[in-house]
Amino acid sequence: MASGLTGLGRMLEPVELLGHIRLVLGRGGPLAGKRLLVTAGGTQEPLDPVRALTNKSSGKQGYALAQAAVDAGAQVVLISAPTALTPPVGLRLVPVQTARQMLEAVLTECAEADALVMAAAVADFRPTKAAAVKMKKRDGVPQIKLEAADDILGTLAGRRAGMHRLRCVAGFAAESQNLLENASEKLKSKKLDLIVANDISAADAGFGVDTNRVTLLHADGHQEPLPLMSKTEVAEAVMARVAVYLGSR
Ligand code: CTP
Repeated sequence: MASGLTGLGRMLEPVELLGHIRLVLGRGGPLAGKRLLVTAGGTQEPLDPVRALTNKSSGKQGYALAQAAVDAGAQVVLISAPTALTPPVGLRLVPVQTARQMLEAVLTECAEADALVMAAAVADFRPTKAAAVKMKKRDGVPQIKLEAADDILGTLAGRRAGMHRLRCVAGFAAESQNLLENASEKLKSKKLDLIVANDISAADAGFGVDTNRVTLLHADGHQEPLPLMSKTEVAEAVMARVAVYLGSR
């Protein structure tokens, strides 16, 4: 086995082994028997076969949420835009690229889900059309025309009545100014139960770093400011609230 060959008796990579242990330890946890849908990463809107319009999301917070849901015993589907991360063991991964693909995956998977946590950084704008072949320098600097991309939570808000199992929808608000005011407005307009307001202007919070400083805003007006936490701790705090919404704790 030291030769690197695969076969019976070859130990799993430690991180994978740990993932299986977490999966077993999570059985009987506060989300046991619940189906959780989590979205993560930054969507990519193609400009041509080699270029895309995207954002700085690393996917870390979404993957931490998916892991926290597995740890709490949930059956988890992770809809992920491209990231450099390894998905947690024990969930079903649905890879997507664009906002449109993420919308379609969310609408399909929501029919069977008890809760949705939308941590993905979804494109707000996309090129009106993607070139079929690579744009060449010799053709000059292209003028790129943009149009609005699908608002996934906005679309879901209008269809929630038909989704009988779905009892909790949580979103994130990435804000660089007027954090609570803007988050509260998104909570209402997207008809969410919970929104995680994230101040991305701070150096120790938001895109790419391992920590976040968030305030949880609930639909009943209740607000919970949380201290600076690792993204893992934020994920655990969010899943604990989701369990309360699902009536499992
Ligand atoms: N979101 C979504 N579809 C989009 C954009 C965002 O479903 N096209 C979701 C995000 O996953 C997040 C929430 O909506 O859970 C808020 O995202 P955010 O980027 O903070 O807000 P926007 O709706 O893009 O509004 P604004 O551009 O005014 O900040």
